[in-house]
Amino acid sequence: MHDTFNENDISHVVETDKAHIWHHLSQHKPYETTDPRIIIEGKGMRVWDQKGKEHLDAVSGGVWTVNVGYGRESIANAIRDQLVRINYFAGSAGSIPGSLFAEKLIGKMPGLSRVYYLNTGSEANEKAFKMVRQIAHKRYGGKKHKILYRDRDYHGTTIACLSAGGQDERNVQYGPLTPGFVRVPHCLEYRKHELDGAPDENFGEWAAEQIEQVVLREGPDTVGALCLEPVTAGGGVITPPEGYWQKVQDICDRYDILLHIDEVVCGVGRTGEWFGYQQYGVKPDMVTMAKGVASGYAAIACLVTTEEIFNMFKDDPTDKLNYFRDISTFGGCTSGPVAALENMRIIEDEGLLANTKAMGARMMDNLNALMDKHAEIGDVRGKGLFCGLELVEDRGTKEPVSEAHIAAIVGDCAAQGVIIGASNRSIPGRNNCLCFSPALIATADDIDHITDTVDKAISKAFA
Ligand SMILES: Cc1ncc(COP(=O)(O)O)c(C=O)c1O
Repeated sequence: MHDTFNENDISHVVETDKAHIWHHLSQHKPYETTDPRIIIEGKGMRVWDQKGKEHLDAVSGGVWTVNVGYGRESIANAIRDQLVRINYFAGSAGSIPGSLFAEKLIGKMPGLSRVYYLNTGSEANEKAFKMVRQIAHKRYGGKKHKILYRDRDYHGTTIACLSAGGQDERNVQYGPLTPGFVRVPHCLEYRKHELDGAPDENFGEWAAEQIEQVVLREGPDTVGALCLEPVTAGGGVITPPEGYWQKVQDICDRYDILLHIDEVVCGVGRTGEWFGYQQYGVKPDMVTMAKGVASGYAAIACLVTTEEIFNMFKDDPTDKLNYFRDISTFGGCTSGPVAALENMRIIEDEGLLANTKAMGARMMDNLNALMDKHAEIGDVRGKGLFCGLELVEDRGTKEPVSEAHIAAIVGDCAAQGVIIGASNRSIPGRNNCLCFSPALIATADDIDHITDTVDKAISKAFA
């Protein structure tokens, strides 16, 4: 770590943090007796905290974001050069990096053609919901306005996004939520026994058929869109079962339902393809993305749509309301697309999609080997560098381990110098998954180091 801060500076920062910062997703009572973690510096896969302790970051900035790793000077330089040229103008005007990144992005997304810029994943999903509602009003007298979302998925933190949220512990105490959002069942094969009527065979098709049942119950003429994560992230790293996506696509096509894929986590390389949906041959109408778009070097999110959707908003210029009446002030910041362009160049030039596939396979092999060793590992799931372990008391009953065990494992890994993730205040009684999403630059040594650390932590937690 660079020695830029002396001990007095650091203790001032810590005290000031404790006095004034309201940390995200954190209980603050413990900070009366302990200090929050303050990250001072990062390079590659590693970060250093206020005590100078080095951590291997197995979750890309805590929440699967820093896909190309820390300390990328080329991104910082590109942002700097752009900012002194022009930092901002409202998104009703264009910009050079906005235009060039859109061209590059669309080149990776056959079938889609329009990019709407914003800042966060929640915001991108909100805009997609707004488009669905406006289409319902323009074309269907307001009737086809319902948005289906899936149990265990997450789409963001605003009230509308929570209304589309399948993680009930996140929603508690934030109601009343927004009407018009309707839940469909999850597709987690490992827990299919908890779903009424789930078959032993062809679970994927059956899980998709449950979506159709909801469409029929609600009335197809009331359902405007289906919003899904390609691989569910915070809900427990849920990879879709065989046969699921083909059937989902078929349902959307048959009932004229827009398919909105939330790529906020999977987008831009995380699973080893540019987008998670591309693993499953899906043709979405709308795609939202945020975290990995610029790897956290700038705040940028995108909502990408087909030309057909775009045309629905421009087909009648005599109607004064006939355009997407929406703005995101900071969607006009040029730092986002210029960082995203450089981020994408890095992924291409360094072959990081191929690395993600190879290192993801290695991580899955290592985690499966841990499953042979630890009876508490009930299920291993993953796609690319996006993997999870579900821990259970008993493989037969699948009773989840306690949250205290999960916290102990995460804490022990941190003490060993590896930051891992876990499902937290997400699914009631099901916060029993460990999550791994190292940067796409991870080496074989990094992967082995992460899984060796987890191995030790699990042994200790259940000794
Ligand atoms: C799948 C998914 N969608 C949306 C979001 C919301 O993104 P943001 O926190 O940028 O609003 C998240 C955040 O974790 C996410 O995991």
